[in-house]
Amino acid sequence: MSLPSQVRLIEVGPRDGLQNEAQPISVADKVQLVDALSAAGLGYIEVGSFVSPKWVPQMAGSAEVFAQIRRQPGVTYGALAPNLRGFEDALAAGVKEVAVFAAASEAFSQRNINCSISESLARFAPIMEAAKQHGVTVRGYVSCVLGCPYEGEVAPEQVAMVARELYAMGCYEVSLGDTIGTGTAGATRRLFDVVSAQVPREKLAGHFHDTYGQAMANIYASLLEGIAVFDSSIAGLGGCPYAKGASGNVATEDVVYLLNGLGIETGIDLDALIAAGQQISAVLGRPTGSRVAKARSAQ
Ligand code: HMG
Ligand code: MG
Repeated sequence: MSLPSQVRLIEVGPRDGLQNEAQPISVADKVQLVDALSAAGLGYIEVGSFVSPKWVPQMAGSAEVFAQIRRQPGVTYGALAPNLRGFEDALAAGVKEVAVFAAASEAFSQRNINCSISESLARFAPIMEAAKQHGVTVRGYVSCVLGCPYEGEVAPEQVAMVARELYAMGCYEVSLGDTIGTGTAGATRRLFDVVSAQVPREKLAGHFHDTYGQAMANIYASLLEGIAVFDSSIAGLGGCPYAKGASGNVATEDVVYLLNGLGIETGIDLDALIAAGQQISAVLGRPTGSRVAKARSAQ
């Protein structure tokens, strides 16, 4: 299979990245980050989550962030919604696209959203219904697709089953998350091979955390499988509060560098992206997790 000529990047740094930060980050800093990311040419930014603040305190200010960002035409600003309450809060904040999130492992489902996989899918049904009524689009996530912090190995068939359910209930795209970053290129190819028997490849995305340093290889393996949508995080921010030791997502800067080298279009300005990453890293008071940004700043 030839490589895709265009790739869509879903910037998850303001959500998947910042959700994991223990230090308080002001609404103003979050807004500045989102606006810098849209200015760099990203077409999709996951801005926040409408989840319980007891579970993920850092996302508590998501409605204010949505109220203050400068929305650019053609840019999708998404948010996570775990239940109808979250969806309604998102709607009230003017959100036009939400993401629901299920897991491929029962143990992770319990730890992350306090219910079983089938209960979670049942919870999403009224979200899908309400979303349709309000013209809101819904993206789906499956977590732990290449391993679970509590159960270990996860069968690709189990991932395929959950992905198929999300697609069948109306998610226009399903992102497969290697939450703990243990996946390898071979496992990634097998995963997409199995899942694409249930959900068309063009409706699938890859979401790789870089904990074991495999994310770039896994993205390349996914490209070879015809996958053309990837989630990534500015400056490699993040982790998951319910997956101990999970590091950030693959850095957006590094993915753009890879895609530029392959001649694959993204519409993203790498220099502006690096600047956005440096700005948020300064706010957090630590070096960027992007290898490309580090190399550029050493020049
Ligand atoms: P629960 O405790 O079972 O919920 O949590 P509940 O319905 O029993 O409600 C408990 C309390 O939470 C009540 O308040 C509710 O009102 C409130 P109280 O009466 O105690 O004061 N509540 C809410 N508040 C605000 N917004 C809401 C909401 N819902 C209930 N939407 C729940 C269940 C799903 C809410 C909880 O487990 C939760 O919020 N989990 C979110 C966990 C999370 O955000 N994890 C990180 C994102 S997933 C991820 O990172 C993986 C991904 O990146 C892909 C990958 O890497 O694999 C997407
Ligand atoms: Mg994630």
